[in-house]
Amino acid sequence: MARVSLGLRAFSILGVLLCLSPSSYGVLNQTSASTACAYLEGTLGTGVVLPAGERYLSASEKNWVQTAWASPTCVIQPTTAQQVSRAVKYLAQRGVHFAIRSGGHSPAPLGANINDGVLFDMSGFNSVEYHARQGVAVVGTGLRWGDVYRYLDQYNVTVVGGRILQVGVGGLTLGSTSPPNPDR
Ligand SMILES: Cc1cc2nc3c(=O)[nH]c(=O)nc-3n(C[C@H](O)[C@H](O)[C@H](O)COP(=O)(O)OP(=O)(O)OC[C@H]3O[C@@H](n4cnc5c(N)ncnc54)[C@H](O)[C@@H]3O)c2cc1C
Ligand SMILES: *[C@@H]1O[C@H](CO)[C@@H](O)[C@H](O)[C@H]1NC(C)=O
Ligand SMILES: *[C@@H]1O[C@H](CO)[C@@H](O)[C@H](O)[C@H]1NC(C)=O
Repeated sequence: MARVSLGLRAFSILGVLLCLSPSSYGVLNQTSASTACAYLEGTLGTGVVLPAGERYLSASEKNWVQTAWASPTCVIQPTTAQQVSRAVKYLAQRGVHFAIRSGGHSPAPLGANINDGVLFDMSGFNSVEYHARQGVAVVGTGLRWGDVYRYLDQYNVTVVGGRILQVGVGGLTLGSTSPPNPDR
């Protein structure tokens, strides 16, 4: 009995996935990255850094190592989940490529940067809270592990993050591997 209902559930989940694809995720209207940047600048209500902007170089070359530097059409700096959601929906529907950077510590070329596309700079997601009763810490993707450890120290608790303090929360949490270490 249990096996049957499990099977049915798996089947209906598959059904939902099939229904959603490809029309729900299909490209409605192919848009250029520069059109998308202009649209986001006008509607998102958050920092959109364009190549002519003063902060462009620091925003596009914030990644730890030169191999990960690139020339995004614009860098957007959201601070709320709603802004991220609106931007991703807009870009996905129009087939505009984008990349995401949290701590920017990955050396992989174009892993957390992009040419001819939109770069999400997640450094605005920089809050950390500790809920002592539940023993749960809520950590922003844009933080670096050093900031997280320092904050949690006051509660005498910690979390297993990166050994190197500048490594970001987002990339490490998603399971990115360390660069090759010649000593090991
Ligand atoms: C010098 C050095 C030291 C390191 N030390 C350690 C260490 O001590 N321990 C360890 O485990 N690892 C270590 N690493 C590896 C490190 O964990 C990875 O490079 C990790 O991806 C870095 O996370 P980040 O947020 O800084 O990276 P980023 O470069 O910002 O992102 C890495 C990848 O994750 C994706 N990503 C990031 N945030 C998000 C998000 N919010 N949503 C979706 N995708 C996202 C990016 O698109 C990119 O593909 C080290 C790397 C270097 C270069
Ligand atoms: C496609 O998107 C662009 C920019 O958002 C818009 O100007 C144009 O009218 C859209 N075309 C269609 C067919 O929806
Ligand atoms: C953390 O540990 C120290 C040393 O044992 C102690 O004095 C302090 O009260 C502790 N703080 C908390 C929030 O538990």
